[in-house]
Amino acid sequence: MKEQREKGKREFGPLHRATFFLIAVLFAGSLLGLTIGVRQFAPPIFSVAEAVDVANSPDGWADENACVNCHEQAEQFDQTGHANTLVPASDADSLKLLAALAASEVGQNEQASVEVTDGNIMAVCETGGVVQRAEIDWCFGSGKHARTWVGTLPDSFGALDLLEMRWTWYRSTDSFDVTPGQPKTKGHGAVATLGTQFDAPRAWRCFSCHATRLPAENGRIETAHIAPGVTCQRCHGPRKRHVEAEGAFHDPHWQTSDRMDAVNLCAECHRRPEEQKPGDIHPDNPEIARFQPVGLSQSACFINSEMTCTTCHDPHKPMSAQDSLGKWQCVQCHDPEHASHTLCAAGRTDDCVSCHMPAIKQESPVSFTDHWIRVRDFSEQRP
Ligand code: HEC
Ligand code: HEC
Ligand code: HEC
Ligand code: HEC
Ligand code: HEC
Ligand code: HEC
Ligand code: HEC
Repeated sequence: MKEQREKGKREFGPLHRATFFLIAVLFAGSLLGLTIGVRQFAPPIFSVAEAVDVANSPDGWADENACVNCHEQAEQFDQTGHANTLVPASDADSLKLLAALAASEVGQNEQASVEVTDGNIMAVCETGGVVQRAEIDWCFGSGKHARTWVGTLPDSFGALDLLEMRWTWYRSTDSFDVTPGQPKTKGHGAVATLGTQFDAPRAWRCFSCHATRLPAENGRIETAHIAPGVTCQRCHGPRKRHVEAEGAFHDPHWQTSDRMDAVNLCAECHRRPEEQKPGDIHPDNPEIARFQPVGLSQSACFINSEMTCTTCHDPHKPMSAQDSLGKWQCVQCHDPEHASHTLCAAGRTDDCVSCHMPAIKQESPVSFTDHWIRVRDFSEQRP
């Protein structure tokens, strides 16, 4: 057992992050609260870094193209889900998918389509003889699971609201269906025909988990300067001084101090265990598979070792380049070569993930890997 702990510990990364970011974020958050005055944040369902503009940092933002000159971590990073999780709607892949909306089943049933004229991308939908149109400008999701498009529009305070388009593209069906969380039947009026409107605080939250830099002026997101995607400096902090000093300058404030801090770096977006209602945390709830830190923290593996997310994931590589369904992930601690390790009581030496960490179907046509590693009942959902 001791050996397992140490093994887990070695895997636990040296990255140390600190309170500075949080303080900067909270500070920016409170400024935002003050600036918009009456429009305080809605009580958060879960807390996230509300703002990602670290203008207050002593360090500034570097051009991320520079990282590859000195770091192998940047070599395949552009193929990761993180790097591509937010792109302009005008991105070529995004346009190609949008063109297929009209011919899809839901597109035909709901008379929905997308028109592109002079670089403007308009969602179009007819209800009761009235044609509604709205411009869409961003595409959320790399497409590994799904892509959802949004349009941004200023509210009466000048802050940015968001229209989330009603039709999402799913990889599993290579087609469109209704966006998760939206009503099964479309509504009437300009907004309800085309999707759902989110107020500025909620729009802000969407971008803060899908972008690296979210510059804000007077509490308003400057869309022109968003750095989309979860890229190097979202996790490692602004690096201008680091690049200028050719690596000699380190900002220790960005490093994590212990294991939970390291997990929470990821869980800031993937959801911290304490953000989940305790009543929701039980093996029969398929929805918690969407929130990997919540499930993982329930596992005997996690509780009894020094495991973190990077024990099994290299955040610098695409899943396809890291044998993401590998037995190696388990054998780090359940190795038949080591007498002290606990081995599979069913006598299996292969295929660990499909029995102990299966992909769980969600209500929408996507599946997530259940990170609550455990011995499963036969009645439980299997791939
Ligand atoms: C999703 C968060 C995330 C992103 C995005 C990310 N990293 Fe990392 N990076 C980490 C974590 C966590 C570690 C510690 C790894 C471990 O635990 O072994 C790390 C480690 C590193 C290290 C090694 C540090 C050391 O002391 O060994 C370098 C260098 C690095 N990252 C550079 C980059 C570059 C360059 C990019 C962009 C191409 C990038 N990272 C993107 C999370 C991230
Ligand atoms: C000119 C070379 C150079 C460039 C460009 C560069 N780095 Fe580094 N970086 C280094 C060196 C050298 C080290 C190791 C220094 C040490 O171990 O003392 C380092 C260490 C790191 C580390 C681990 C230690 C720490 O400071 O946290 C991270 C993370 C990192 N770099 C991220 C980045 C990112 C992100 C970029 C792009 C924005 C980048 N670096 C650009 C040279 C560079
Ligand atoms: C700023 C928010 C944010 C942070 C911080 C973050 N993630 Fe993510 N992560 C995302 C989003 C958004 C996606 C969805 C990517 C997509 O659209 O496919 C994602 C996807 C992933 C995936 C699937 C990758 C793929 O290529 O399909 C893994 C694995 C992952 N994250 C692990 C981590 C780990 C490990 C950390 C911490 C080191 C971390 N994430 C930190 C937001 C974040
Ligand atoms: C708390 C952080 C957070 C917020 C807020 C957030 N997302 Fe995400 N989003 C994620 C993470 C993490 C993933 C990756 C899920 C996974 O693969 O496990 C993701 C995935 C996605 C995906 C890809 C499909 C999927 O399920 O993997 C889409 C599309 C998406 N988000 C759109 C949005 C939109 C639109 C909003 C605002 C209405 C939003 N997100 C708000 C963190 C967030
Ligand atoms: C014991 C190994 C292990 C650990 C630890 C682990 N993961 Fe995973 N993770 C996996 C496997 C296996 C997959 C499925 C890979 C695939 O489908 O290619 C996966 C998939 C994912 C995905 C893709 C979406 C999904 O659910 O299929 C995300 C996001 C993710 N992990 C995030 C995390 C985060 C965040 C942590 C830390 C809280 C973490 N993982 C810790 C093994 C692990
Ligand atoms: C960092 C070390 C570590 C890793 C990696 C790891 N485990 Fe574990 N696992 C443990 C420890 C420690 C226990 C507690 C039992 C023990 O003392 O051996 C455990 C317990 C288990 C149990 C029993 C759960 C229960 O509720 O009784 C199963 C099943 C399991 N692991 C499967 C896996 C699989 C499958 C993987 C790979 C996806 C994996 N583990 C990866 C350390 C780890
Ligand atoms: C066909 C499904 C299946 C596969 C594949 C599988 N397991 Fe298991 N595993 C089980 C079942 C069922 C049990 C509970 C058996 C019992 O208690 O009699 C179990 C139990 C365990 C336990 C708990 C042991 C204990 O003494 O509490 C560990 C650890 C474990 N498996 C690890 C692994 C690892 C590592 C792999 C891959 C090398 C793996 N399993 C592959 C079905 C599987």
